[in-house]
Amino acid sequence: MSDIYVIYWSGTGNTEMMAGAVAEGIHAAGGHANVLDVASASADVLKDAKAFALGCPAMGSEQLEEGDMEPFVEEVEKFAAGKTIGLFGSYDWGDGDWMREWASRMEAAGATVAGGEGVIANNTPDEEAWRTAEN
Ligand SMILES: Cc1cc2nc3c(=O)[nH]c(=O)nc-3n(C[C@H](O)[C@H](O)[C@H](O)COP(=O)(O)O)c2cc1C
Repeated sequence: MSDIYVIYWSGTGNTEMMAGAVAEGIHAAGGHANVLDVASASADVLKDAKAFALGCPAMGSEQLEEGDMEPFVEEVEKFAAGKTIGLFGSYDWGDGDWMREWASRMEAAGATVAGGEGVIANNTPDEEAWRTAEN
């Protein structure tokens, strides 16, 4: 298994914790995770990857964070076909609409969403047993 990028946006740390859990899952599966804050990541690094993970909490009104994550995801959509993408994020008062829509977008772009759906955690995640995208 080669390096797997885990790229996330997190305002108050919950999705960042999930990124850590995803990285642990990758390590447990014998891989190496490259965890990056989306603000310091270029979507270009994902172009040659078969599998990677993206994390973003529910923001706006059931939307992705619009400053960094939304433009990043728009870039990813252009080359997502054939890739396996793990999606994760934290939310509070909603019921996961943002994640269902995000997963649909990735599938419409031709990607496979790892596990068939995004992993969501209400506020601070408890120890998520998260099996990550296999390479
Ligand atoms: C500006 C803003 C908008 C939000 N919009 C939603 C929302 O539409 N639905 C929801 O369930 N939670 C919403 N939340 C709650 C966050 O998703 C929740 O606090 C989450 O745990 C934040 O994750 P983070 O710590 O990774 O930033 C919003 C929070 C903020 C600050």
